[in-house]
Amino acid sequence: MAAFRIAHLSDIHVWEWTLNPVRLMSKRAVGMTALLLGRARRFRQERLAAVVEKVASIRPDHVLITGDLTTTSMREEFARAHDALRPLLRTPERATVIPGNHDRYTRRATRGRHFEHAFGRFAGGVEYPWLRFIADRTAVLALDPCRPAVGARGLLPEEQLAAARELWEDHHDEIDRLIVACHYPVDAPEGLRDDLAWKPLVNADELADWLATLGPHLFCCGHVHNAWAFTPPRVPDELCLNAGAPLLVDREGDSPPGFLEITLDGADVAVVHHGWDGSAWVERPLAHREGFLDPTRRRVGFPLGE
Ligand SMILES: [Fe+2]
Ligand SMILES: [Fe+2]
Repeated sequence: MAAFRIAHLSDIHVWEWTLNPVRLMSKRAVGMTALLLGRARRFRQERLAAVVEKVASIRPDHVLITGDLTTTSMREEFARAHDALRPLLRTPERATVIPGNHDRYTRRATRGRHFEHAFGRFAGGVEYPWLRFIADRTAVLALDPCRPAVGARGLLPEEQLAAARELWEDHHDEIDRLIVACHYPVDAPEGLRDDLAWKPLVNADELADWLATLGPHLFCCGHVHNAWAFTPPRVPDELCLNAGAPLLVDREGDSPPGFLEITLDGADVAVVHHGWDGSAWVERPLAHREGFLDPTRRRVGFPLGE
């Protein structure tokens, strides 16, 4: 099997100013104030074309975007994000896009399915969870715990988790390499836990308990604006990957914004971060695990608690 290369991006946070008072009469007013107060300075829209060009230059077999493409879920933001990402989204079979909490920012945007209108072609189903094959025996199982009007906390509905269990039970025989895609991580590496603590997935423990039964898998997320590759202690067979936010200004100079290049070669996984240091792209290997996705290491049905 030839190596399969995935470009993983997240948290692009395209933004648009709006001064329409009707639109500001909602949670969006909060988002717009935050934007006025700093997002415009922290998320550099003018970098997006260069990021897209760099992603295209690694010639990925698949592009995976794990949410927060927008800032306040406005149609104009979705349109702008879609236009800017067009070079990476030519073929729906070769791109997967899931929403983040900022893409479900208001009830109206969520009910109006703004995200789906812009990026629904790059999903494996209409409702979450869904599962899609992106390569031979390689599948993405997508979850959506994002919901409007409750701050930045996420909640994975019970029915969605039950449906995900069913999907996995029905399809695990056909899958060697499983990638769970979900905007919210269940945990963050030491040093970044505080960043997650004020905007957590409320029922992360429940999700983690299920993930721990899946055997070796990748979990691709965003939400905390730092790139990482780590294994949450509660989910010892998981390699959790966060792509970080590619347009974020790196104030400290120690966390260059960019994206991940994930190479799957048989059961081997290699992860490289491409970061922009202000003048050049810098490559940083984040993980290299030989045989990590070997399905014979899987313990499907392993009783919880053992
Ligand atoms: Fe974000
Ligand atoms: Fe987020």
